[in-house]
Amino acid sequence: MNAFRFDDWDTPVQPAVSGIPTVNRNFSPKMETHAAALAPTNAADKRIVNGKADINQLAPFKYPWAWEFFLKANRNHWTPLEIGMAQDVHDYHHKLSPAERHVFENVLAYLTTSDILAMRNIGLAVMEKMSAPELQIYQARQVYEEALHTWTYQHCIESLGLAQQEIYNRYRVVPEIHGKIALANRRLEKVLRSDFDLTDRANLHEFALSYFFFAVIFEGCWFYNGFTPVFALQRRGLMKGAAEQLQYIMRDEVLHCAFGIRVIRELLIEENLSLDPTALRQLWDEAEAAETAYAGYILREPILGYNAELHVQQFRFIANRRARQVGVAEPFPGAENVLPWLDEQANLRKEKNFFETRVTEYQTGGALAWD
Ligand SMILES: [Fe+2]
Ligand SMILES: [Fe+2]
Repeated sequence: MNAFRFDDWDTPVQPAVSGIPTVNRNFSPKMETHAAALAPTNAADKRIVNGKADINQLAPFKYPWAWEFFLKANRNHWTPLEIGMAQDVHDYHHKLSPAERHVFENVLAYLTTSDILAMRNIGLAVMEKMSAPELQIYQARQVYEEALHTWTYQHCIESLGLAQQEIYNRYRVVPEIHGKIALANRRLEKVLRSDFDLTDRANLHEFALSYFFFAVIFEGCWFYNGFTPVFALQRRGLMKGAAEQLQYIMRDEVLHCAFGIRVIRELLIEENLSLDPTALRQLWDEAEAAETAYAGYILREPILGYNAELHVQQFRFIANRRARQVGVAEPFPGAENVLPWLDEQANLRKEKNFFETRVTEYQTGGALAWD
């Protein structure tokens, strides 16, 4: 009697009826032979990129921290429908000044496009190049989360009755918003090609640089700092529903950034690679210039407790923190923490009303570490 082997996907199943020969005219002689036994996978054979270990076999782990990231991400689950937006509708139409509405709308306009770009970067450019399944699995979750973030912005736009087409098109017609998106698109296009050969050292460096840009700058600085104008409104009791939505997104983004930084650090060690300081400097300078132009547009008039200068200074402060986390030189030495409330404001607090009305509590509370 033939026992079914769960580890054998190649051998065609044939009915085991004695005395009756089984004929299948589609079988080639090669298909009729049993697959050769494969050598067991060793964790040591796994690599961030260019690995040869079995991509379909989760364990043994070489990067157990990546699996931990996946478990952690699953403890921060919500949908935008769970957060009340009724007060925001009133705030937006009756309480916000024209300058505050300008800030809010343009932050939203930037974010709608950014999160789709983030999704495409991880899902199309990065994930396929990872050669360990524990890395890909967290990134699969990340792809979903970026889609969830897009849903969240769309939900805000719909709830507030904003002109959808106009908001989504704004990044195309406002150069200061387009500048950030164009920068990201350039980075994405360089590494998106499926024939981008990472055994080539120059390509590998380009990939590491691109990953650095998306994890450290795009997610770790631009997103982290980018929600701040809305948190400034939240601190004054305005747009609290939208701000809470952004707090949930930010918690995801902090994990995305932390994961990306960990991947970059491991990649550089594994590949004996270092990021070219001149290329990094250019990256930081371009990012700062784009952020400065963006801040000048969204905050062309300051709002109470927030202005363009504070926004840019805080970008520089966060950039230094991210650089230290990766282990590269601080790009803006001496930058000060001009918004000390940002880290605290960004952290999710549990006293919000919707927690009390939910049937099930979120598992996390303060369980996620920030930074
Ligand atoms: Fe996102
Ligand atoms: Fe992200």
